[in-house]
Amino acid sequence: MSVIPIVLDCDPGHDDAMAIILAAYNPKIKLLGISTVSGNGAIEKVTQNALRVCALAKINVPVAQGSGVSLLGAAEAATDIHGESALDGADLPAPTFELQKMTGVELIGKLVRESSEKVTLVATGPLTNIALFLKLYPELVTNVEQIVFMGGSASRGNRTPYAEFNIWMDPEATDVVLKSGLPLTMCGLDVTHQALVTKEVFGELEAMGTELSKKIIGLMKFFAKTYDEVFEMPNPPLHDPVAIAVLIDATVVQSKFVNVECELKGEFTRGATVVDIFDREGRKKNATVALNLDAPKFWSMMLDAVRAAGQA
Ligand code: BDR
Ligand code: CA
Repeated sequence: MSVIPIVLDCDPGHDDAMAIILAAYNPKIKLLGISTVSGNGAIEKVTQNALRVCALAKINVPVAQGSGVSLLGAAEAATDIHGESALDGADLPAPTFELQKMTGVELIGKLVRESSEKVTLVATGPLTNIALFLKLYPELVTNVEQIVFMGGSASRGNRTPYAEFNIWMDPEATDVVLKSGLPLTMCGLDVTHQALVTKEVFGELEAMGTELSKKIIGLMKFFAKTYDEVFEMPNPPLHDPVAIAVLIDATVVQSKFVNVECELKGEFTRGATVVDIFDREGRKKNATVALNLDAPKFWSMMLDAVRAAGQA
């Protein structure tokens, strides 16, 4: 079985936490390291959360703190969805290891440079660190297999009517990634809104009865409450692990190779991903966009990882 080496760039975040667990506990993925980026909360908070999730799920990989602001210097937090800590709903253990003494972008560079195989970069937060990596280490780009990101949408947004949160947070970084020429896979709201944490999923977590599954239930209940309040979605969408699942088994989604651009101006549409599904504009195709999810297959992967982590 070939194992895919990845670096996960994330802003934990409830669904980022689950992406970390899926990446660490699926045997087809080798998680080389984690870099953090400000998004769901301030950079210090999401970095602490990454370390605490590692402690909770007994994961030991290098973790480094990345960018605290977008390429243009902006930052905001998604407290309405993820709470004050950016990961409200359960008491998580204290970190069991120290942060790397380098920035997130430096860690990405180090891991890509030192890998004997091409590395896949998976981004589940704003694309700031990934864009900085591409700009600062052009000589390493040949050792990148592809970039998979959770972000954007072929239809409507969630941070603004047309912009999805991760893309809204750093449209300029998204533009750098979309123009990179690297193979890109976009897992936007079209597909992640099919990864719903249903009553049946809660039932599976309860049946596990592990310390880990109990904490995850707490986190998911918080996430379900805020999603219901803000989006009238009582079953919240577990966006970020979809970007890991497509690597584990490409058949978990149905996708289309199309042109994707990011709106950088737009009075009302800044941060929207413009996805040309029917090639109406004839622009160069640059991204494989996941559109439909095999939800049972996705949940089987995700719950297997939680089960394995709970027994570690
Ligand atoms: C994305 O925004 C964040 O709140 C989630 O962690 C996910 O990465 C969904 O729009
Ligand atoms: Ca995220």
